[in-house]
Amino acid sequence: MTDTQLSAEGEAEVYQSFRHFWHPVAYSSDVESLPIAVRLCDTDIVVVRLGGRVRAFADLCPHRGARLSLGWVEEDQIRCAYHGWSYDGDGICTLIPSCLDQRIPAKARLRSYLCVESGGLVWVCLEDVPQFGIPPFQEHGDSAYRVVQIPPVDWNAGAARRIENFVDLAHIPWIHDGQLGSRDRPEAPVHDLVREADNIHMWGHFSEIQSIKTDSSQLDESDPTLTSNHNWRVYMPLTVWWQQSLPGDQFFGLLVAASPVSQNVTRTFMLNFRNFALEDPDAPFCRFQMEIAEQDRQIVESQRPEELPVDLAAELHVRTADKMSLEYRRWLVELKHELSDGGSKNRLRIHSEAGNYAT
Ligand code: FES
Ligand SMILES: [Fe+2]
Repeated sequence: MTDTQLSAEGEAEVYQSFRHFWHPVAYSSDVESLPIAVRLCDTDIVVVRLGGRVRAFADLCPHRGARLSLGWVEEDQIRCAYHGWSYDGDGICTLIPSCLDQRIPAKARLRSYLCVESGGLVWVCLEDVPQFGIPPFQEHGDSAYRVVQIPPVDWNAGAARRIENFVDLAHIPWIHDGQLGSRDRPEAPVHDLVREADNIHMWGHFSEIQSIKTDSSQLDESDPTLTSNHNWRVYMPLTVWWQQSLPGDQFFGLLVAASPVSQNVTRTFMLNFRNFALEDPDAPFCRFQMEIAEQDRQIVESQRPEELPVDLAAELHVRTADKMSLEYRRWLVELKHELSDGGSKNRLRIHSEAGNYAT
């Protein structure tokens, strides 16, 4: 087997391991009276609110395989559009309109998935025992904060590539020149990181352009840069919480959750939070984040391979600037080993330990 084949196999295994974690599939506010179709790890799912609680089922009626997301909600049950079978919140069929006097077969039951609302998002886990909890998002539901939902956007890239991009500090002066960083100051800021129970905590004290915050957070408008504390928590494997401390106990940040639609398609849910300018319109904050993300999208979609390589020797690294990325890749591979069933486990571990350092 060639190195390329081995690596592709490893990336596929990392992707398969994502089934064991919670991922967002929709904003809570998008799940109202109608069922909605979503896709997570190549699995078609219908998300529906029954009796006030969100549920996730395989988007497939066991009668003739029609999509349940084409149906509707009636008396807290989901009804299939094709022949009208009804299913309750546990996915059990309660009604077959074409033969009302016959016993309903026990097999007339939907495949259900773990589904929870948290932080303004609907989270689903495809396996019955999730690894790690749902990433916390304390600012959501805190009346001191304004939380803005950014419309989800799909990128043609692996989900881990998307997350690595968000915590890559060295790209900021290049891709976001004049908005967050400057090509005149290309050095990656000094930062530290530590692995905690379910996340990598990274922090630094450095200067950044404050494009969106200048007007509203009492900063000096003649100098849009501000040196401040930044904190990131990468909740494994695909959610990042980032917070910036502004003067006067003001905080600004994002929750970025990359949902793996398929191996090379990622839907990102982003929630922007601030505890200042609460009365200001949200649209400029939303527009700004979408503009920045679009700059990232063009680069991340160009990366090959589309997925983050599990082989640390497959790309070149810079010890200081890329240390977060390296720690992230190592942990992804470790999680894959823990969740996969042996097989190529040892080969991949050996293959992954040697880094390839440019400096
Ligand atoms: S396919 Fe759903 S009721 Fe027949
Ligand atoms: Fe970026």
